[in-house]
Amino acid sequence: MSHQTVIVLDFGGQYNQLIARRVRECGVYCEVKPYTMPLSEIRAMAPIGIIFTGGPGSVYEEKAPHVDPAIFELGIPVLGICYGCQLMAHTLGGEVVPAQEDTAREYGRTEVRFDADCKLFQDLPEQAFTWMSHGDYMARVPEGFALTARSRSCPNVAIADEKRGFYGVQFHPEVGHTENGLGMIRNFLYEVCGAVGDWTMGDYKQTAIRAVREKVGKGKVLLALSGGVDSSVVAALLAEAVGSQLTCVFVDHGLMRKDEGDEVERAFARWDINFVRVDAETRFLLKLAGVTEPEHKRKIIGEEFIRVFEEEAKKIGKVDFLAQGTIYPDVIESGAGDAAVIKSHHNVGGLPDYVDFKEIIEPLRLLFKDEVRQLGRELGLPEYLVSRQPFPGPGLAIRIIGDITKEKADTLREADFIFRDEIAKAGLGANINQYFAVLTNSRSVGVMGDGRTYDYTLALRAVTTDDFMTADWARIPYEVLDRISVRIVNEVKGINRIVYDITSKPPATVEWE
Ligand code: XMP
Repeated sequence: MSHQTVIVLDFGGQYNQLIARRVRECGVYCEVKPYTMPLSEIRAMAPIGIIFTGGPGSVYEEKAPHVDPAIFELGIPVLGICYGCQLMAHTLGGEVVPAQEDTAREYGRTEVRFDADCKLFQDLPEQAFTWMSHGDYMARVPEGFALTARSRSCPNVAIADEKRGFYGVQFHPEVGHTENGLGMIRNFLYEVCGAVGDWTMGDYKQTAIRAVREKVGKGKVLLALSGGVDSSVVAALLAEAVGSQLTCVFVDHGLMRKDEGDEVERAFARWDINFVRVDAETRFLLKLAGVTEPEHKRKIIGEEFIRVFEEEAKKIGKVDFLAQGTIYPDVIESGAGDAAVIKSHHNVGGLPDYVDFKEIIEPLRLLFKDEVRQLGRELGLPEYLVSRQPFPGPGLAIRIIGDITKEKADTLREADFIFRDEIAKAGLGANINQYFAVLTNSRSVGVMGDGRTYDYTLALRAVTTDDFMTADWARIPYEVLDRISVRIVNEVKGINRIVYDITSKPPATVEWE
């Protein structure tokens, strides 16, 4: 079945995939294409609308990216965002100049007033905060265009030629900081382009399955399955696409949460795939024995994981494709070249090419986390897997401060389970983005019954965050904290004191190591 399509023309902006994601969110199929895409190809795709993205350049610079002016003759509505807006103005005969200090250069949160009778803003509040990031200014707008929004320092925040279906905004409607931004994109799609909303995540699933089948043919695929959301969704997708040609290698390093290994195994039992669960607890604990330094722990785990995977891959024999659960935020973050290493993330992406794979398959590369969860549901994965909070590759090893033993891992597993259980019972799970227990290396004196105890202190960590780059500690109600504390000290041997971590990130990090 073919769908109505929107083309997002990429001029090098930071948020281009986010625009695509918003369009999908509105139930419309879209593809991001380079701005150099020939007009003939655009015409062949017969899009119902085109969106010009932002970009780092200035339209009046010599090397600035441009479009064939004939794009405006196709009779297809266009929404220009930031650079895209200026490009439209410039191409259609307006004038764009560098903003002077005191005029219209705007960055960050800016209050804007909108004309409610402009289709882009219809049925939305007439005043809202938007996210701006532009240093240029439209000194003169092209003929046929009206000014449809303004801020305190800028009279032309948005322009529209409603007759031809051309709209431009200086701010970024796609980012979460712009109030009603999604509504504006929805208006463009439905009110201007005539979208009917004929695209769903179920369609994405079908398209992705077809693409995998085409690429893989009769070849063998190997997936390193961690049990996290992303690799689980890739596993389900590949299981559906290529069935028995797929081998999932699930390395259980003995540092998973309570029952996690069994849950993962159970979730994949219904597919006809090769599922290898490697019980590697002993060898991991042996390698980690006596190691206390966090980075050292991480390196050992990363390396050992690869060794186990290598051994399993050799047993399977010639494998053509390696599958990975890379998602879009991973792609962006990997681009942050010079950033300081805070923690070496254990990452399957760092696997060596010891088996000569023909290619890497990354079916989630363009999706955001919540879209991945949605796709997982489409594929029939159980809710506890799909809505699972992030869990670091090194697992409980970086939540046991100091040296790691099986006994400590078991203690932490029990305490962590109670914490999660009580959060779920209190109905707080959806509001807290990550929560877990940490076994500190600190022991203190307590009194239980009539006797003295000298046991470990357990720390509870719970954070709210959008992107895990920054985070705030979650305001869990005292009564809930109280229930958690009482249950853990009563039910888990070896813990006699509970503390709650009330530091944000920064200056702390989410995990303790
Ligand atoms: P930090 O502790 O850096 O954590 O504030 C941010 C997010 O990343 C997760 N995390 C990891 N995930 N491998 C992963 O796959 C790792 O080595 C790793 N270290 C931290 C952490 O759980 C949080 O969600």
